[in-house]
Amino acid sequence: MTSDLEFYDRLKDLKIPNSVAIILDGNGRWAQKRNLPRELGHKAGCDTLEEIIDYASKIGIKYLTVYAFSTENWKRSKEEIDALFRLFKLYVPIIIDNAHKNNSRCYIIGDLSRFSKEMQDTCKMLMEETKSGTNMVFTMALNYGGRDEIIRAINKLFIAKITEHNNKEWTKKELDNLDITEDSFKNYLDTNIIPDPDLLIRTSGEMRLSNFMPWQLAYTEFYMPETLWPDFHKEELVKAIESYNKRDRRFGGRK
Ligand code: FPP
Repeated sequence: MTSDLEFYDRLKDLKIPNSVAIILDGNGRWAQKRNLPRELGHKAGCDTLEEIIDYASKIGIKYLTVYAFSTENWKRSKEEIDALFRLFKLYVPIIIDNAHKNNSRCYIIGDLSRFSKEMQDTCKMLMEETKSGTNMVFTMALNYGGRDEIIRAINKLFIAKITEHNNKEWTKKELDNLDITEDSFKNYLDTNIIPDPDLLIRTSGEMRLSNFMPWQLAYTEFYMPETLWPDFHKEELVKAIESYNKRDRRFGGRK
């Protein structure tokens, strides 16, 4: 078995991506392969997530953002959704404990208004309890959809502009000087505290974005291994970083 030290050795001359996003996929298939209920696949996925959060903070990733529950995941059976949120509640104290140990901050993106008050309070508590962490920001996307986020951002921006203008009638000059730019718009997105990801990982061999951060991933490098999420241990993250280091990022320019 490869030790942590060997992993650190493999990373020592590599550039560690500052901001990493992960689409956690394959929990169901992992369980199915073992004739286990899907819930146990999600439980194994939570254990792997705990390991990867800890390792990411140790190797110097500064922002780790994971797609945990999408706006489309409500189409799953009630049993599976209930099981996922039972797991979430079970893991919150562990996530907080680990965040304190690693001096990390936890953050949540997505439209929380669809959740019960209890769930919303749990999310607020998770953010509040860890808000002084400075080593890494770990973000979970819950009831998150990228298009939904953009539409919510447009609504927030619209309300801000109307309020700023004090409900007066707009002159042509004022409309010409609205000053809505990519940079100003970004501030209205849920991810306004997170730099655009350098690296996106999607496990289980699926080659789709599935509505995950379409705005933010415009120039991100993709890594999509066949590995199912519960099997994505430290070494898989090391391989992802090795692959990232072979990319030539030009952001549309030329060398
Ligand atoms: C995808 O696997 C995974 C999810 C829908 C949820 C994964 C989230 C976690 C394990 C993190 C904890 C978060 C919560 C909300 C408990 P899949 O079920 O789509 O796998 P499949 O494609 O193989 O069926």
